[in-house]
Amino acid sequence: MRIIVCENYESLSKKAAQIVGSQIILKPNSILGLATGSTPVGMYKNLIKMYEEGLIDFAKVKTFNLDEYYKLPVDNIQSYHYFMDENFFNHVNIPRENIHIPDGLASDIENECISYDESINNSGGIDIQVLGIGNNAHIGFNEPTINFNKGTHVVTLDESTREANARFFNSLDEVPTKAVTMGIGSIFKSKKILLLASGKNKAKAIYDTVHGQVTPQVPSSILLLHHDVIMILDKEASSLLNEDDYESVNDYEKVK
Ligand code: GLP
Repeated sequence: MRIIVCENYESLSKKAAQIVGSQIILKPNSILGLATGSTPVGMYKNLIKMYEEGLIDFAKVKTFNLDEYYKLPVDNIQSYHYFMDENFFNHVNIPRENIHIPDGLASDIENECISYDESINNSGGIDIQVLGIGNNAHIGFNEPTINFNKGTHVVTLDESTREANARFFNSLDEVPTKAVTMGIGSIFKSKKILLLASGKNKAKAIYDTVHGQVTPQVPSSILLLHHDVIMILDKEASSLLNEDDYESVNDYEKVK
């Protein structure tokens, strides 16, 4: 694991976009695993800018999103389909047929989950997976639980997650109780993983990821076992880490 601590959210977003952008330059037909939430929005803005400046071309890129709310219409402004269109897909040239997001409205949801993992595998696997992290250390919508769930599946959201995400809805009641998410296994198969965390409310989750033991109670802790993870943090998200923690990771860098 490599930890990069950035001065602020702006430099974190730029650094993340540079890493994803260089992946696309080196391999134009890259398979990207994408995340929602407020954290990657700055990265998407920087990637759009790089596209507009002619630095990167998405014509051959394929994408797979981590998750979607269960039974939330895709035209609902809180759906992750809507979020991705607004924040990224409407602004770059990824062919529509190359975009994949779990279908939370599928009539046969179990089959949808199986075929989602099959499509990832058939595409050759994810080259770089972008992750945010929940306050409770969830990745995708893999909540703290008693075992690491392998494939894409339907999950019941923790109340703390619903409360954290209620800021995007009119009220807590409107926040769906379930979601479809790539499993820890689907995420773990990615060749490279980029986890972004910004702000004080993520500091504990980051500390638990790096410092503690690998346990499904801290879903992000599985990343310690992956061979190629970069965590990009701003100062606040890294504020609970200390020198001892850095010894447990392979590399550590500070950028302005
Ligand atoms: C949601 C998403 C996660 C995301 C998390 C954190 O729960 N399913 O993928 O990492 O929110 O979101 P934010 O970046 O807004 O803090």
